[in-house]
Amino acid sequence: MCGIVGYVGKREAFPVLIEGLSALEYRGYDSAGVALIDKGSLVVWKNKGKVAQLKAFAEKKVKPGSTIGIAHTRWATHGVPSQANAHPHTDAKNRIALVHNGIIENYAALKDKLKKEGVVFKSETDTEVLAQLVGKYYKGDLVGAVSQALAEVDGTFGIAVIAGDNPDVLVGARRGSPLVVGVGDGEYFLASDASAIVRYTKRVIYLKDSSLVVLNRSDHTIMDLDKKVMTYEIQHVDYTAEALAKGGFPHFMLKEIFEQPDTIRNAMRGRLLVDDGSARLDGLNLVMQQLRQINRIIFVACGTSWHAALVGEHMMEEIAGVSAEVEYASEFRYRNPIIDPHTLVFVISQSGETADTLAALREAANKGATVLGICNAVGSSIARETHGGVYLHAGPEIGVASTKAFTSQLTVLALLTLLLGRMRRISHDEGITIAQALQEIPEQVKKILKQNAAIKDIAKRYWKHNNFIYLGRSYNFPVALEGALKLKEISYIHAEGYPAAEMKHGPIALIDKDLPSVVIALKDSVYEKVLSNIQEINARGGQVIAIATEGDKNIKKYAAHVIYVPKTIPMLSPLLSVIPLQLLAYHIAAFRKCEIDQPRNLAKSVTVE
Ligand code: M6R
Repeated sequence: MCGIVGYVGKREAFPVLIEGLSALEYRGYDSAGVALIDKGSLVVWKNKGKVAQLKAFAEKKVKPGSTIGIAHTRWATHGVPSQANAHPHTDAKNRIALVHNGIIENYAALKDKLKKEGVVFKSETDTEVLAQLVGKYYKGDLVGAVSQALAEVDGTFGIAVIAGDNPDVLVGARRGSPLVVGVGDGEYFLASDASAIVRYTKRVIYLKDSSLVVLNRSDHTIMDLDKKVMTYEIQHVDYTAEALAKGGFPHFMLKEIFEQPDTIRNAMRGRLLVDDGSARLDGLNLVMQQLRQINRIIFVACGTSWHAALVGEHMMEEIAGVSAEVEYASEFRYRNPIIDPHTLVFVISQSGETADTLAALREAANKGATVLGICNAVGSSIARETHGGVYLHAGPEIGVASTKAFTSQLTVLALLTLLLGRMRRISHDEGITIAQALQEIPEQVKKILKQNAAIKDIAKRYWKHNNFIYLGRSYNFPVALEGALKLKEISYIHAEGYPAAEMKHGPIALIDKDLPSVVIALKDSVYEKVLSNIQEINARGGQVIAIATEGDKNIKKYAAHVIYVPKTIPMLSPLLSVIPLQLLAYHIAAFRKCEIDQPRNLAKSVTVE
């Protein structure tokens, strides 16, 4: 779980690398480092801590004139965050430097072998083994040495490598971890994703899996790991570096919460067919006949994407009449799921790089399933390896806590429900009702966002509490889970999500004046039941923050605080009820002065199992 950047060209490499690392910090931020070539020798600067600390520490010491280098921001997997374990890693003779994202699974065996050959290791990392291997094989041909070393490793890697005596060549390679090449004028960039390089060039090559790239100032060659030249396509990235900035908000998370009217609209643009009461999803790559034959869907995902899948399951069964189930990706791959020709597997992932989800995708594909993706990151590993799918078009999500991706996932799942439902049991009129309701969602979200200040006031009253419970039923049970996840991951407050009716089977014992309950109590088929649950909480001295439907005055009798959301149809209600929960978590974390965009122990894209 790391971000890597490489540069070869005519500029001073250090500032380019530092800027690139700053854009990639969402991938990991416990240590950072840079390696440059200065007059035929490698110079390495690395430190525990964030990129800003590395910059402050190295800036004045770096001599001008280095126009090639590699850099890394780390999220520890092997060995604690420390200077020794920070990347870049060098070989025993200090001739090559290497940065790595991924995991070398057979590193222990390789390390033992190298130790017997006399190599002394400086770190606890799996990556140093790879650096030492490249060093062992390096006799002036960097590409040859990298290719020879990679042939010995099992596991995943995205790497960038330079050699001190070869100041014109930057080598990159990937297997299972993302890597993109930026094509400039007399210069090349290499990075874990395009956000690190868009300020310099919009022309990029998304490297295919198991490929190797050789970059010098005027040329590039892309090969497979056996050095056979491969075809590739130069693409134009359509978001700017500015799009990545916070846009006036104190945190990316808040900016992303406020982007949701637009991102939800983007997810349905060109896909929602209001007059037909249906949807078109071209990327599925399935013909109508195939779609009609599907009788079961398995959704596979992790974290917030898994919560979206739970809502999708409900929509699919209740509205479209297709049997659906939801699996944690990390569990799916270790069971023996039954997949028949009429089962469709949908993997859902914002980043498209989540290791558990990718592994589940491969397991399903291996069993002969048609695997489709719902992804945000264009060109990501999941997007590439699925047979087809639907992009969210939500733009880069930088805050570690997923917000806009969740609502875009719900939007795509609603479109999918419409499409499959119209082939089965949704009538034309029912389809139109759903499509019109979906069309209204962006404006309804805008209306909820206007209550930001009021939600902040509620947060101000509760931010010192150390435990919360979130309750919801039916379509809004997954939203309770999502609300609790948002709060715990950014504020470090213990929060549990529960189906409201399950409370009486245990969690009710927790209720007292110190445990606030956030209850989603919309005017739907379970409203009266949820109201009873609220009364049970009141009877035990608990305080209730209710998410209610606009116009419901009755609920004020039972809840200490009410946040209203506009009325919509039940299947779309999670798109609205989740917004106050995102804001509540955000403001509570802000009052607690937490690092909202980069919470402790977490990273944006979890590329390890
Ligand atoms: O990129 P993905 O959607 O595959 O990520 C899955 C989870 O790691 C992610 O949703 C995580 O739970 C977030 N931190 C939630 O806010």
